[in-house]
Amino acid sequence: MYARSREEKLSATAQSDSRQTKETSAAGMFVCRLQVAHFRNYPFLRLELPADCPQIVLTGKNGVGKTNLMEAVSFLAPGKGLRQAKFSDILPKENERATAWGVTATLHRGDEEIEVGTDYEKIDGKNSERRRVRINGAAGLAQTELGHVCSAVWLTPSMDRLFSGEPSGRRRFLDRLAQAFFENHASACAAYSQALRQWGALIRDGQKDDRWLSALETTLGKYGAKVAVARRETVAILQAVSGTGNPAVFPRPVLALKGGWEEDLAAVGKEDGAVFIQNSFARARETYAQTGSAGGIHTVDLTAVHREKNMPAAACSTGEQKALLISILLAHVKAMSERKGAFPLVLFDEAAAHLDFNRREALMGEIAALKTQVWLTGTDARPFESLKDTAHFVAVDELLRDAPDWAAAS
Ligand SMILES: Nc1ncnc2c1ncn2[C@@H]1O[C@H](COP(=O)(O)OP(=O)(O)O)[C@@H](O)[C@H]1O
Ligand SMILES: [Mg+2]
Repeated sequence: MYARSREEKLSATAQSDSRQTKETSAAGMFVCRLQVAHFRNYPFLRLELPADCPQIVLTGKNGVGKTNLMEAVSFLAPGKGLRQAKFSDILPKENERATAWGVTATLHRGDEEIEVGTDYEKIDGKNSERRRVRINGAAGLAQTELGHVCSAVWLTPSMDRLFSGEPSGRRRFLDRLAQAFFENHASACAAYSQALRQWGALIRDGQKDDRWLSALETTLGKYGAKVAVARRETVAILQAVSGTGNPAVFPRPVLALKGGWEEDLAAVGKEDGAVFIQNSFARARETYAQTGSAGGIHTVDLTAVHREKNMPAAACSTGEQKALLISILLAHVKAMSERKGAFPLVLFDEAAAHLDFNRREALMGEIAALKTQVWLTGTDARPFESLKDTAHFVAVDELLRDAPDWAAAS
């Protein structure tokens, strides 16, 4: 029954839209079944969705669990999810016996059907920040494997202050975008940070072990250069994408990297970046010993300027900043489809907040045009009126009411 309706839908899409299919051969990503267990306020939940449904709208009053459900979806992609939470914090607070949470889903990508599962277990009362991954029955996989199957981009209320907040938030944002294009970006960032911590600790301890410090500086150079190149190229990729969003409503910002030796690194070029970073750290030993800071690529900042207004994003209104952010994310989704041949899932948590009527309607138009599944949340369904013919609406409080009794007790 399910397979038939899916085939019918696919053939109908192919007939009615052969021109569009040609335009982008990238496959959209669709969740068609989602199951979560012991996940924050959900003891257990199974959500069956229509085949290849383009928009899933979660509605309900504050605190009902809309963002929690979206967070569960974000775990279908690698990483720490859209809240960047500690995995142990996701265990249901009201159930002390629960020591593991899990999310499973059936995904559709083109003609492929993929079973994905991920879970976290607190072992012997200890926290770890590892989660296990299962794809089509193969268990114990690395998160990078998940990246080959599913990726996700998101916009959350906590990103409203991205441009006016600390540079570290913008770096994390950029690194997440970069990870989508450069598979080893997260591990290169981690290797750089680890070497930096060791290098700093050695100098603070007054240990003048030249060989050890030099070895760490070589590591800093090796991974730092990879990280810097991936960030620079990500900015260039996003800047080069054209034709996404209505520019009058979603102006694309001029993006740049500032500080963090970026100007020097761009000047020395890709080949010499590692040596430049290595030498810079070697020269900075004394400064670090005296001041506790040495600079480095971990201090780079992503800047954004509203093109038409020639205004730094931080000085733009809340709604304008949100529009800029949406532009970046739409460009990212397009770039991923072009470069990776696959669309990510798009998670827009309260995306309509702060947007005026025109912008909100324009956003719904952009969402309707995306060829991949978009998850949306709102306290009521009104802002999503224009999607009513295509979207699947989920009243989250009813989901919880319908959960089987045994789920709460287990
Ligand atoms: N680990 C947890 N265990 C149980 N409940 C949690 C946990 N983490 C968050 N919650 C609760 O989940 C509820 C729903 O949160 P959220 O999904 O953010 O709501 P909203 O629908 O407004 O997006 C909140 O009331 C919060 O207290
Ligand atoms: Mg929320």
